[in-house]
Amino acid sequence: MAAPSSRNLKPWHLVLVTRRETLDRLGEAHPHGKMLMEATAAIAVCGQLDISPDFWIQDCSAVTENILLAATGLGLGSVWLGCHPREDRVAAVRGILDIPDGVGILSLVAIGHPAETKEPRTQYDPSRSHREKW
Ligand SMILES: Cc1cc2nc3c(=O)[nH]c(=O)nc-3n(C[C@H](O)[C@H](O)[C@H](O)COP(=O)(O)O)c2cc1C
Repeated sequence: MAAPSSRNLKPWHLVLVTRRETLDRLGEAHPHGKMLMEATAAIAVCGQLDISPDFWIQDCSAVTENILLAATGLGLGSVWLGCHPREDRVAAVRGILDIPDGVGILSLVAIGHPAETKEPRTQYDPSRSHREKW
């Protein structure tokens, strides 16, 4: 909730899930979220549309990234699972977590203890970095 927010409207709501049965249901519902079945927790990052109809997606993206960074800082593993704008995923998560209409669901973040340790790497690509002009 320290994320930057357009006009500082802070439209976010976060739903923390730790119940095993609910994590499993989310894992079954999300087509690329099978790791939820092994995860310790998940956070649904949601945005109240009437608070910020035009920038809730950007604000909730910043929230999602902050959660990923915080999890890494705690030595945990985490994965951003996209929901919005895939209506089937949004509807499934809405049903499982009782999220009301008028609230968008940007992402689920799966959180757990990482099964593998990856070497630090860079993804820096100089061809994508432009100076002064394209
Ligand atoms: C908008 C968005 C949606 C994503 N959705 C999924 C997803 O549904 N399932 C998944 O395993 N990873 C998902 N990811 C994570 C990406 O697959 C991941 O960031 C990418 O493969 C690079 O891996 P890395 O973040 O470990 O470097 C998503 C990432 C973003 C930004």
